[in-house]
Amino acid sequence: MTANQITIALTKGRIEQSAVELLEKAGFDMSFMANKGRNLIFESPDKKFRFLLVKAPDVTTYVRHGVADIGVVGKDVLMEHPTGYLEMLDLNFGLCKFSVASIPSYDPTDHKRKRIATKYPTVAREHFNKTGEDVEIISIQGSVEIAPVIGLADAIVDIVETGNTLVANGLEVFEDICRISARLIVNTAALKNNPDLLPFIRKIEEIVGNEEVPFK
Ligand code: PRP
Repeated sequence: MTANQITIALTKGRIEQSAVELLEKAGFDMSFMANKGRNLIFESPDKKFRFLLVKAPDVTTYVRHGVADIGVVGKDVLMEHPTGYLEMLDLNFGLCKFSVASIPSYDPTDHKRKRIATKYPTVAREHFNKTGEDVEIISIQGSVEIAPVIGLADAIVDIVETGNTLVANGLEVFEDICRISARLIVNTAALKNNPDLLPFIRKIEEIVGNEEVPFK
């Protein structure tokens, strides 16, 4: 590892692919990541960069602990894990939204205490706190769309991208909560200690711009 090497934790999968494309646009030769195999750590041939491929919620953990200087992760994850890093850029890819969805017979105006199933309990709780509704949050790990169909919950709070998963399970959106996109997060100590970090982030910013791309 060289003195000012920049370590970047990337969310494995689609975000990782878009991040690599973004770095190529910014002029970096990313060919060393072309044949990944099962490797999870990659160092650029000039040793200036090191990439860690990790699961989304772990990106914030690596950055918070300072073992990664930068993280690239969805805003959905940051809303669930909001502390211990600096959110610096909206990267304008990985666009989707948080929505409240359910089966067509769901009545959002019903005054009974609703059960809301979600992988995002903090997001769901904050949303219903804002709307002033006291709900029971049921945390599940995935395949959330099943919950209203099978009677575990009255509705769900989840990510909607194409909407295909909702349609396939007979659900519809009742309310949109917010837009989600990939973000660049930074370890604050690294920002002070590594003089190469800010110029690198500024270079990325030039490519992504400051205008928010809407989710349609
Ligand atoms: C996410 C999300 C929805 C789906 C939305 O799930 O929780 O289920 O993608 O995408 P769509 O609107 O394009 O259909 P993920 O793929 O992460 O799987 P999981 O439910 O097992 O977590």
